[in-house]
Amino acid sequence: MKQHEKVEKNVGLLALFMVLAVSIGGLVQIVPLFFQDVTNTPVEGMKPYTALQLEGRDIYIREGCVGCHSQMVRPFRAETERYGHYSVAGESVWDHPFLWGSKRTGPDLARVGGRYSDDWHRAHLYNPRNVVPESKMPSYPWLVENRLDGKHTAQKMQAMQALGVPYTEEDIAGAREAVEGKTEMNALVAYLQSLGLALKNKR
Ligand code: HEC
Repeated sequence: MKQHEKVEKNVGLLALFMVLAVSIGGLVQIVPLFFQDVTNTPVEGMKPYTALQLEGRDIYIREGCVGCHSQMVRPFRAETERYGHYSVAGESVWDHPFLWGSKRTGPDLARVGGRYSDDWHRAHLYNPRNVVPESKMPSYPWLVENRLDGKHTAQKMQAMQALGVPYTEEDIAGAREAVEGKTEMNALVAYLQSLGLALKNKR
């Protein structure tokens, strides 16, 4: 009892024990995930982003799409009915950083790949009101004007390779050529069309 009182009355000691307790609790939950196959093995049939898709992903990050769109279908009926198969960790093992997001001003995009045509996406991103009259999403008209020069694409892929994404030397050698001169719109649409395909048709 005496000792318990000491801990309760000494703020420093109390804080120390709290940090200790929380750390152990956290580590017990987090550390095993690093070693579980379900969390670190890519889903069967998944392909790394092409050079163009990877550039598109960077535009997605730059434009702050993640601030309004999650990429995480949760395992609830209401979600899977609307979006398709719930998201699994294996789909994100090559995403650095992952873009799960937590804000849903717009719909989840984890399975948007193949849902609309490329033309639909282009019209929508240029001005969402073109195709969804009541939309509150901002317009991104500059995407059709800005062109990629591909100067850093190979380096970006090398960085991904260092993090374990299985790019081949061939992918990297052809990176600049694959994106040079393409519009940012092309790249972003290519990225969106790739989302969630590995598990798309499973329910
Ligand atoms: C201010 C919040 C906001 C931002 C930022 C935003 N969106 Fe949206 N988005 C929405 C809303 C709301 C909708 C639903 C209405 C519509 O379809 O336009 C939507 C719809 C979409 C859809 C259609 C999804 C579906 O399943 O019907 C796509 C694709 C999309 N957004 C992509 C993007 C991309 C790419 C960016 C970044 C360039 C972006 N959004 C930025 C709010 C936002």
